[in-house]
Amino acid sequence: MDKSIWDDLAAMGRKADGRSIRSLMSAERAEDFAVEACDMRFDYSKTSMDTAARDHLIGMCEAAGLDDKRRAMFAGDPINETEGRAVLHTALRNLDGGSIMIEERDVMPKVLGTLARMEGFARSVREGRFQGQGGTITDVVNIGIGGSDLGPAMAVQALSTYHDGPRCHFVSNVDGAHIADILGPLDPKRTLVIVASKTFTTIETMTNAATAKAWMGQDVRDPASQFVALSTAQDKTSEFGIAETRVFGFADWVGGRYSMWGPIGLSLLIAIGPTAFRAFLRGAEAMDRHFQNAAPQENMPVMLALTGIWHNQGCGYATRAVLPYEQRLARLPAYLQQLEMESNGKRVSMDGADLPVESGPIVWGEPGTNGQHAFYQLIHQGTRIVPCEFMVAAEGFEEELQHQHRLLIANCLAQAEALMNGRSLDEAKALLQGKFSGEELERQARHRVFPGNRPSTILLYPKLTPEVMGQIVALYEHRVFVEGVILGINSFDQWGVELGKELAKALEPIVAGEASAGDKDASTASSIGWLQARGA
Ligand code: F6P
Repeated sequence: MDKSIWDDLAAMGRKADGRSIRSLMSAERAEDFAVEACDMRFDYSKTSMDTAARDHLIGMCEAAGLDDKRRAMFAGDPINETEGRAVLHTALRNLDGGSIMIEERDVMPKVLGTLARMEGFARSVREGRFQGQGGTITDVVNIGIGGSDLGPAMAVQALSTYHDGPRCHFVSNVDGAHIADILGPLDPKRTLVIVASKTFTTIETMTNAATAKAWMGQDVRDPASQFVALSTAQDKTSEFGIAETRVFGFADWVGGRYSMWGPIGLSLLIAIGPTAFRAFLRGAEAMDRHFQNAAPQENMPVMLALTGIWHNQGCGYATRAVLPYEQRLARLPAYLQQLEMESNGKRVSMDGADLPVESGPIVWGEPGTNGQHAFYQLIHQGTRIVPCEFMVAAEGFEEELQHQHRLLIANCLAQAEALMNGRSLDEAKALLQGKFSGEELERQARHRVFPGNRPSTILLYPKLTPEVMGQIVALYEHRVFVEGVILGINSFDQWGVELGKELAKALEPIVAGEASAGDKDASTASSIGWLQARGA
């Protein structure tokens, strides 16, 4: 994209710097700067974006060729250019969409066939036909990391009110404490272990899988018979000893962080069952169709992305906070951290040239209201501006606790209001009248001033059903895609995670005392020495 388009955006961002969001607000703006799609409503009216900025941002989609790139993604073109792969996670939820051809072959029969096999297996576990050596399966342990962990772990928690299958646990960290704490209370004879790894080479997952197999081998005659593999690498799964009937494969055009819709979602499928899992896929499919067909201004993923570009590259805000007012979405910020930062945390564009602007933002967050009693202080009164992305449901599941849900909604809306309106010095002084006077009143009041004019958006949804959950996750996936297209980067590779992996491999024998730290820098060598002297 022409650099001047970015320069114009930055100029608009500077101009908006002193603009009062509160004075922009009107009944008309509250409708105009909001999008309704599927079952949800996204409101971006409490931002400094005006219609000129919005027009410019929509123009950027056109300049970046969004329409063609979106068509190319859904059609299975190899848009992941540095790995020479298609990007087709949308095929995994294409329940009604017809054929998708890759190299003249329709991928859908295999996708739907694998889904049917997964459903059959999930049913047999849930109904007790698949048994461990000690009888029906009571516990499922998913061993995976990154995209092979965060998605299912987040969704199992999010959909806990639909969880009627065996208990599910997630082991990801290579820290032995993680697997020890999870396996400790379980009965190996009634546990099913799912090894989830696209490549089946990830050191953390393979190490934990070997540990789990040894643990199971102490009590179970044929431990591999209680193992399942989810992977693209079927040669490696059979080397591990897992029978083909319990291997659920997928193609390399499913990126790790986009993979929960297919085999990597097996733990979720076992937890909530095929009907709810299909509803989850249907929700995502509905968002796909909306994303493909709606005009930019009515397109929720596009407007969510443009709000992101406005705040990050336009206004220069380096981070964004994702703040679900929904305790069951506690892992959503972590999930979005990988989705957004592994996808768009890149400093070169598709052609290898340096990006003319900042890369994607730092994403972080926690559920409300807990965050309010932790980091919101900085959000309201710190010197840095953090755009806040709130989300809340109209309804909770706890019927007898609807008064608590109303309190939750009130808190969510109050935070957005406080961020926008703030509290002036005069208002603060008025609150303290009678308590302080003169200089002390001034001094005390200054601590109670909220500058306000801080941007936030809010995503509203009816209730956290599987369908809505599918819509939310697909919404964010497409947001990442649109931001990546505008930045001109490849959102689907992750070379930035490789160097650390290589170095860790080389360091392990040094830590073990089997090789010398000779070629390591002095700081690394002295850390190793200090740790070894204390038992490493
Ligand atoms: O380290 C990054 C990464 O490659 C992620 O992209 C991926 O989700 C994760 O590791 C796990 O990879 P795998 O599923 O191949 O074990």
